[in-house]
Amino acid sequence: MTRVAIIGAGPSGTAQLRAFASAQQAGADIPEIVCYEKQSDWGGLWNYTWRTGLDKSGEPVHGSMYRYLWSNGPKECLEFADYTFEEHFGRPIASYPPRAVLADYIKGRVEKADVRKYCKFDHSVQDVEYDESSKQFTLTARDLINNTSSSEVFDYVIVASGHFSTPNVPNFAGFDTFNGRILHAHDFRDALEFKDKDILMIGTSYSAEDISSQCYKYGVKSVTISHRTAPMGFDWPENFQEVPLLTHVSGNTAHFKDGTSKDVDAIILCTGYLHHFPFIGESLRLKATNRMWTESLYQGVVWEANPKMFYLGMQDQFYTFNMFDAQAWFARDVIMGRIATPSLADMKTHSQAWLKREATLETDEDLIWFQGDYVQELIDQTDYPSFDVEGVNQTFMQWEKHKHDDIMGFRNNGYKSLMTGTMAPKHHTPWLEALDDSMESYLGEDYQK
Ligand SMILES: Cc1cc2nc3c(=O)[nH]c(=O)nc-3n(C[C@H](O)[C@H](O)[C@H](O)COP(=O)(O)OP(=O)(O)OC[C@H]3O[C@@H](n4cnc5c(N)ncnc54)[C@H](O)[C@@H]3O)c2cc1C
Ligand SMILES: NC(=O)c1ccc[n+]([C@@H]2O[C@H](COP(=O)([O-])OP(=O)(O)OC[C@H]3O[C@@H](n4cnc5c(N)ncnc54)[C@H](OP(=O)(O)O)[C@@H]3O)[C@@H](O)[C@H]2O)c1
Repeated sequence: MTRVAIIGAGPSGTAQLRAFASAQQAGADIPEIVCYEKQSDWGGLWNYTWRTGLDKSGEPVHGSMYRYLWSNGPKECLEFADYTFEEHFGRPIASYPPRAVLADYIKGRVEKADVRKYCKFDHSVQDVEYDESSKQFTLTARDLINNTSSSEVFDYVIVASGHFSTPNVPNFAGFDTFNGRILHAHDFRDALEFKDKDILMIGTSYSAEDISSQCYKYGVKSVTISHRTAPMGFDWPENFQEVPLLTHVSGNTAHFKDGTSKDVDAIILCTGYLHHFPFIGESLRLKATNRMWTESLYQGVVWEANPKMFYLGMQDQFYTFNMFDAQAWFARDVIMGRIATPSLADMKTHSQAWLKREATLETDEDLIWFQGDYVQELIDQTDYPSFDVEGVNQTFMQWEKHKHDDIMGFRNNGYKSLMTGTMAPKHHTPWLEALDDSMESYLGEDYQK
């Protein structure tokens, strides 16, 4: 029987499990599946851990999420087409749920699909190699509970291990003698640590934006945001300033390119992540950066050099859960022989066209339409339930506008579900005042699990 390995049971890996289950429900014979997950549960980054550095087994901690994290985009943009928020929660909910609520939603779909039986939890994949003569992969995993290693042979491998867990950590002159704390966003866990402190953020993307806002919400004294390329330009609160790139630190004083300086207690490097897959053999290993089109992946999914290998969710992400679904349905259909991959030359030509368009993108709006078109191309090729991708793009446009209107208040807005047509209700408490991020608090006292 054909054997398929999935590496990771986060939103991408569980999308893959759901894709196979849906084919099976429709009467198809599906391959034998083993999903390796190094955590003890599925959910990927959406599982909160207090740990940083190494976990209890000596593995690098995967989690980059922190307490009080709320969705940074409208939930209507990531809603599964085959499992709506209304189905999961039994009623409409507001548009920017906290982490625990989204984790519950992701897990609810796969619990319903009865696919947990395919998962090997507490198993970390250590090596994947391909044998040209047998045309099969050998995958070696470490059982983290028993500290044993074993290998299995597969016909297909799907890498769904995420790419926001290995921090990109630049050095700046004077860091080694800085008197405060220096950390990367990957290790940020609780904004209360920075209450009444002066903090410096390096970077201008989503981590910098959200961690700054979190720290403001929980009582930071001041936030200085240092940019390499351009300031974020939001209408920040009075105790914020945006400055050019840090040149060096002396004592507790940070010095910037324009000659200004600021005394700070802590420096948070919001400098992004590395696509880091040490557990994949060299010839199969994706080498990529966080961008909209990932070179070497046909349709953003199939490893061009060996179309029996797949990568899910490797792009920079506006679209998330439903894009991972679109990719997983596509990978499933290649594996099940429903979609034929073209010659290597034709795969490369296809990718080149997307790369050419990627080079023309200038604004966030351009990036969103680009990714929307990509998702549409994928869902047109499979039986993933079609949904209003243009409507999702328009919702992202409203989100962008709401952020620029009020960076500390955009999460108070509501949007219409593109899957059910229902308008999201207003949340009971403005985001800035909602200090309790638990599911119970968010959903209200009447919520019973
Ligand atoms: C701080 C932060 C906040 C975010 N907030 C949002 C948000 O608000 N909205 C949104 O839509 N997206 C958000 N994202 C984007 C996030 O990338 C996606 O939502 C989603 O989690 C990606 O799913 P994934 O399955 O591809 O990767 P992950 O969620 O990273 O899951 C990968 C899984 O693979 C497992 N794994 C890794 N290596 C191995 C190995 N060698 N062996 C076995 N298992 C392995 C991991 O343990 C993990 O469970 C955020 C990302 C970060 C970093
Ligand atoms: N739910 C939430 O609220 C939330 C919170 C945090 C993160 N996230 C998600 O997490 C993912 C990752 O976001 P991210 O912001 O961590 O990474 P990112 O989007 O890849 O951005 C990396 C940032 O680091 C800067 N940078 C990189 N190297 C640098 C250097 N040597 N010096 C100075 N600046 C440098 C980049 O600057 P340049 O622009 O100059 O290249 C960029 O601003 C995203 O998908 C995001 O949606 C979500």
